[in-house]
Amino acid sequence: MSQSAIERAADVLRDHPRVLVCVGSGLSVESGVPTFRGADGMFRDPEIATLTHVSTFDSDRERMMRWYQERRDKLHTIDPNPGHHSLVQLTQTGEYTIATQNVDHLLEAASDEAGFRPSIYHLHGSLLEVRCHDCGHTFEDLTLDLGELPTCERCGGPLRPGVVWFGESLPVDALHRSNRAARNADVCIVVGTSGLVHPAAALPDIARRHGATLIEINPNETALSDICHILIRDKAGTALPALLKEVRRS
Ligand code: OAD
Repeated sequence: MSQSAIERAADVLRDHPRVLVCVGSGLSVESGVPTFRGADGMFRDPEIATLTHVSTFDSDRERMMRWYQERRDKLHTIDPNPGHHSLVQLTQTGEYTIATQNVDHLLEAASDEAGFRPSIYHLHGSLLEVRCHDCGHTFEDLTLDLGELPTCERCGGPLRPGVVWFGESLPVDALHRSNRAARNADVCIVVGTSGLVHPAAALPDIARRHGATLIEINPNETALSDICHILIRDKAGTALPALLKEVRRS
């Protein structure tokens, strides 16, 4: 009988290898957070797409901050799903690094429940953080209402969410460490991302060029499917628990 994709993925993960996990919004869908693209994605409204560009902060700050505040408010109501929990448990079976494009806190929440915090790098920042657009002063605060257009206590500049917008650079440290993990990885798991936004989308290819086996977990074909060796065509909330179970078997 031929091996299933889950069995083949478990085989390459079972020897406690170095693994880079590239995460996108599909991992949080089953927690009630919509993706960006696709039929149910936030970007189906073209006006929403403009709210993730830095230029909108000058042209329509109020609308942009109201939208981000709605997303920040939602963080109080969402919990990690079986995909987050299983991924965190999987990271205890080898030398794992997680590079996430997600700006929620669900992997950290799952880690806290597991009592184990893997290396998680937020390539696109965090909605939990607030940053001064002028002086860069950054702090974690979910109580502040960005819709009220608060200003920085240090310099009086406008406060904004601690996320990366189109037109901005990614956090240097997170990108550097993720690139290094890609170069050193034996395996790269790509879960819940369309693979369309660079530089995050380049990490799996860097890993592959340095010899890694690539595993994609996604119910749909993506821009990265062609370079992946093992395709698990299922939802993260189903595939990751099944993969964890299979890795633990034996
Ligand atoms: P996309 O919306 O581009 O892609 C979401 C992916 O998740 C798609 O490939 C879906 O097939 C997949 N998906 C949907 N449900 C899933 C499930 N239950 N399990 C697994 N996969 C599922 O989202 P991202 O690739 O994360 O950046 O988007 C990348 C970046 O684009 C975001 O970080 C954001 C956005 O612009 C910024 O805002 C800077």
